[in-house]
Amino acid sequence: MSHFRADIRQRCEELVALYPRKRSAMLPLLHLAQENDGYLSEEGIAEVAALTGTTPADVRGTAAFYDMFHLEPVGKYVVGVCTNIACLLAGGEEMLEHAAATLGCAPGSTSADGLFTLEESECLADCNIAPCVQVNHRYVRTTTPEAFDQLVDDLREGRLDHDVPSHGTLIRVKRQGGLRVSAEDIAAERSVAIAARSARAEAAAAAAAAQGST
Ligand code: FES
Repeated sequence: MSHFRADIRQRCEELVALYPRKRSAMLPLLHLAQENDGYLSEEGIAEVAALTGTTPADVRGTAAFYDMFHLEPVGKYVVGVCTNIACLLAGGEEMLEHAAATLGCAPGSTSADGLFTLEESECLADCNIAPCVQVNHRYVRTTTPEAFDQLVDDLREGRLDHDVPSHGTLIRVKRQGGLRVSAEDIAAERSVAIAARSARAEAAAAAAAAQGST
């Protein structure tokens, strides 16, 4: 009996089948295991080990190497605020303080309602839109305190469920599988993501402009 949801278990089996060696599928399977439970539970790790022909110790050792995998429970939304140099100069520390006050949790902890985990991040490779904020590893491009509060409101109300899917979900893991995906489908996936990102950037710019005119 699988610990995973039926669709996740099926996707895991499809991914394992793509590789000559089962253990090569470990990283995408870890993302799926994290989507299943919100973090890498003991049960999820055991199932990934069984699927990849490895041991739970192998799986845990691999997962511990990567920041995107969580071996302890985290909130539904993992909010990362960059305080590296470009963002630091653009108010990254102030944004982190504001995020802690808005979410009611210090960096490295989870809000009382279990919805948000706040992280202080190193450079997230989006230095030109600083300070950089990510939610579940998606760029949200909220550079003002007001835009951050609006983001949190939207997340709480579920208005961003399409743009910010559950923690662990990656487009490249969820898509229909390398050799079976047409170029048109990949382009369509990308255009949806790009359009959503542009809409968020425009909303953030409009909010900043409105703030500047008051
Ligand atoms: S320094 Fe913050 S994204 Fe690069």
